[in-house]
Amino acid sequence: MQSLRSLFSAPWSSTAKLDGKTVVITGANTGIGKETALDLAKRGAKIIMGCRDMEKAEAAVKEIIEGSASQNVSCLKLDLSDSKSIREFAEAINKEPKLDILINNAGVMVCPYGKTADGFEMQIGVNHFGHFLLTYLLIDLIKKSAPARIITVSSMAHSWGSINLEDINSEKSYDKSKAYAQSKLANVLFSHTLAKKLEGTGVTTYSLHPGVVQTDLWRHLNGPQQFVMKMVSPFTKNSVQGAQTTIYCAVEPSLENQTGGYYSDCAPAKCSAAGKDDDLAQKLWELSCRLLSITWE
Ligand SMILES: NC(=O)c1ccc[n+]([C@@H]2O[C@H](COP(=O)([O-])OP(=O)(O)OC[C@H]3O[C@@H](n4cnc5c(N)ncnc54)[C@H](OP(=O)(O)O)[C@@H]3O)[C@@H](O)[C@H]2O)c1
Repeated sequence: MQSLRSLFSAPWSSTAKLDGKTVVITGANTGIGKETALDLAKRGAKIIMGCRDMEKAEAAVKEIIEGSASQNVSCLKLDLSDSKSIREFAEAINKEPKLDILINNAGVMVCPYGKTADGFEMQIGVNHFGHFLLTYLLIDLIKKSAPARIITVSSMAHSWGSINLEDINSEKSYDKSKAYAQSKLANVLFSHTLAKKLEGTGVTTYSLHPGVVQTDLWRHLNGPQQFVMKMVSPFTKNSVQGAQTTIYCAVEPSLENQTGGYYSDCAPAKCSAAGKDDDLAQKLWELSCRLLSITWE
């Protein structure tokens, strides 16, 4: 939903340019990611979109090139539900001379129970583990490019989530809404811990709630839920409005020295107590490294 503040105050805008900057955005063939890519392309950035469906991705690239008048937009195959695909994507990105902004945007919501190629429950697997591994694989390039930013699109749904460290993949019981909330809390905790690990490197991190936005994300809602969303749609955001907080985190000059925070409606916002729980964040970090078989101190 749109907050009261956003209804009564002028929307955030910035003329910040990104000439010479390279941006990677995951899940940018539709929704919030596509609008983010279009906006950042208009600002002069080189845009690389990581998408799982190359047909949809090519069509989006074409649209963004037409809409931005920039030729500097491309897509590469990235399936965040498969670590092999993530590693291939990262290998290609690591050939770039720099990476100034990484936007972990892709997401799946309340899907039926399913597993990724690596055996993770789909929502925690794509939304959290996939982006955790991708960021890990790109971190040296990002550090080399500092000042740089890592933005992770979470949701206000994080605030009713908890992290089930004993059964992160919901193998004992699966509640699709809880699993989504868990994955979005994991996004906030990841960004929070990452900020600490990157202290002094010039790389800053941001997590955010984009609003309730009319996108394909709602595709797995059942009939009555779709009906409710239709009823409340006048109070929701379209994709352009939904992209603004991501764009704000990517370009707002006053955020240059801010790190680890949570944002909503183009402003700092309060995340849940669990989202600031250092102990939980560290445990999730360690579990993520163990399950992904990586070492990331
Ligand atoms: N819409 C909202 O109300 C809302 C609210 C809070 C937070 N968010 C967050 O905003 C972000 C963007 O969502 P959206 O609303 O723009 O939804 P969307 O229109 O469904 O876009 C999601 C994107 O993620 C991609 N994706 C899904 N699974 C993937 C995978 N395994 N590998 C690579 N890409 C994958 C999708 O690709 P395909 O097109 O191929 O499926 C699509 O490009 C998500 O992180 C979501 O949790 C959205």
